[in-house]
Amino acid sequence: MKTNLSFIKTARDKIQLLNQKLLPHKLDYVTCTNGNDVAKAIKDMIVRGAPAIGISAAYGMYLTAWELSKKNKKVTLDVLKKQKQLLDAARPTAVNLAWATTQMLSTANAFFAREAPTPTSGRANQGKDANLKLLLALYEKALEIHNDDAERCLAMSNNAVKYLVTKYPKEKYNILTHCNTGSLATGGIGTALGAIRLLHEKGKINMVYADETRPYLQGSRLTAFELQKEKIPVTLTVDSQAAYLMQKKLIDAVFVGADRIAANGDVANKIGTYGLSVLAKAHRIPFFVVAPKSTFDNSIENGDKIVVEERSATEVLEIAGRVIAPKVPVVNYSFDVTPQSNITAIFSEEDTLE
Ligand code: MRU
Repeated sequence: MKTNLSFIKTARDKIQLLNQKLLPHKLDYVTCTNGNDVAKAIKDMIVRGAPAIGISAAYGMYLTAWELSKKNKKVTLDVLKKQKQLLDAARPTAVNLAWATTQMLSTANAFFAREAPTPTSGRANQGKDANLKLLLALYEKALEIHNDDAERCLAMSNNAVKYLVTKYPKEKYNILTHCNTGSLATGGIGTALGAIRLLHEKGKINMVYADETRPYLQGSRLTAFELQKEKIPVTLTVDSQAAYLMQKKLIDAVFVGADRIAANGDVANKIGTYGLSVLAKAHRIPFFVVAPKSTFDNSIENGDKIVVEERSATEVLEIAGRVIAPKVPVVNYSFDVTPQSNITAIFSEEDTLE
């Protein structure tokens, strides 16, 4: 399945990230030539969405090595470790970020272990050739993380569609979704939005209700934009309208993505997701999460242990640089945690957890 819109353009010496802050008005790219640039782009939400920030961070690790190499400086494990730390700190909740940088560091680690000078080889491998081989290994790993995500999206979306049409058969569905989980947030067709795309391909979508998703408006600026571009029926709804839409029986199922899934199945996702799950339960509407295995964090026992990112007050006090509220204190948790008891099923590329 074709995805029209990609969040990233890659080259040997840079990546260009589609500035998602300017969508849908402007298609503008921010160029990153090292890991620090990528960390800043992630922090500033130029790129967002758990898989997309993981992919960007993987290229960021490679670019740091590339830049050092170009300056004839040695690429060491220590430099890459520091780069990983900086990237991981850019957005703490989405585990895909640390998952990707860990893979990149392991690739470097394996390389250094392989290429370490032996008593016979001396320091011969530590020069330009070694740098080049390391760069190639890192680039290939970043590319693999990127390309694999497209396959994962397709597999998890297929799992979701199969489940929905089997367990909740209907000619056409009205789906409510939150935030943006499409090709702007992943390396492929998306997670929750991927399932929606496949449903549409099968002629099974009546309407997608896209929550506008305050404060950053991923729903109105990004999801509505993606769906309209692909001619999938979409209706924009303010976040606070979800309960009423459910009460009016306008919603058949809720589909969302995830930023971190604890070992017990609790899910951290965009602020507002937990509320939707409570409403869905109260109205007996199935509530589905679609996410790759890279979003599962088995080191975290349950949702209470998930670190939820708090973001700047400006995101709430202003819209597109325009002040919309007096200067009062603001609470701005970027994510919330949905208990597994509110979730009907979680679909990954490997399985379906009920
Ligand atoms: O703050 P964001 O835009 O990065 O939040 C994104 C979400 O919460 C998505 O639902 C999640 O990352 C899954 S994206 C496939």
